[in-house]
Amino acid sequence: MIKIGLLGFGKTGKEVAGEMFIDESVRLVCVFKYHDNYLVGEEVGPLIGLESNGVRLSLCKDYEDVLGKTKPDVIVDFAGKRSVMHYLDATARCGVNIVICSTGYDEAQLAMIKKYAEDIGIIWAPNITDGINILSNISQVVKTQWPDADISIVETHNSEKSGISGTALKLAENLKDTEHVKIGRRIDSAREENEIVIHKVRLGGIIGRHEIIFGNPYQTITLTHNSISRRAFGRGAIRAAHWIYGKKGFYTMADVVQ
Ligand SMILES: NC(=O)c1ccc[n+]([C@@H]2O[C@H](COP(=O)([O-])OP(=O)(O)OC[C@H]3O[C@@H](n4cnc5c(N)ncnc54)[C@H](OP(=O)(O)O)[C@@H]3O)[C@@H](O)[C@H]2O)c1
Repeated sequence: MIKIGLLGFGKTGKEVAGEMFIDESVRLVCVFKYHDNYLVGEEVGPLIGLESNGVRLSLCKDYEDVLGKTKPDVIVDFAGKRSVMHYLDATARCGVNIVICSTGYDEAQLAMIKKYAEDIGIIWAPNITDGINILSNISQVVKTQWPDADISIVETHNSEKSGISGTALKLAENLKDTEHVKIGRRIDSAREENEIVIHKVRLGGIIGRHEIIFGNPYQTITLTHNSISRRAFGRGAIRAAHWIYGKKGFYTMADVVQ
């Protein structure tokens, strides 16, 4: 059994915590939120409708102190992109490995994250579900068999989600076999040559659906991954935490799901 700390107790963090409570291969030893309010110091279990396990909600400002006391083997981060740059230093100082699930980092931030991987084990996981990584692997097979097919990616999320899906961009990047391929978003003009087109749909409460469509003149192949519960992120995070336990270096979910 490995000991896990959870950074972020928002929409995703709560579901991930629930999965960590019921999975007997891990023990959740600390959970952090950012804003100080009446929830701080409360038992995490009852807050998400589960039995108590003695873990209380901590504040991010006490991060290093709590890590020292609870000694997690791995931190799982779902606190948003501002968080990790802030807490990576303390995580490395405490010698704790980390699975970074927050999204939206730029190249400079990613380079900084990689530097910390000289001292600790880091999984950079903008797509934490194993299903999305399997989808990406299968799409490579189709691409190999149909190198000239047109490719579109349709990403559908709830109406609150702003921006384009980082997962869709990553799927497109993985399908780009040469520098000549562009990743574009066409709304009212025709597909250009050598273009992987990402289409964005926002509606209702959809958690996350990614569809990769390969088109030939007389046939198409459509591959779909659908996240039907945020619990899926918890299962992926647990798998990643086991994988990074005791390792050093920088990895992605492609290393975990092979
Ligand atoms: N990799 C994946 O597959 C995957 C899947 C789902 C989500 N995500 C990512 O996970 C992140 C969180 O998503 P969410 O929907 O759960 O967001 P959310 O509901 O807004 O929750 C964010 C959590 O982080 C805390 N937080 C906010 N600012 C912080 C800071 N500066 N330092 C430390 N903690 C901070 C918040 O604290 P309070 O509770 O005190 O407000 C809250 O607990 C996003 O980056 C999202 O893209 C990734």
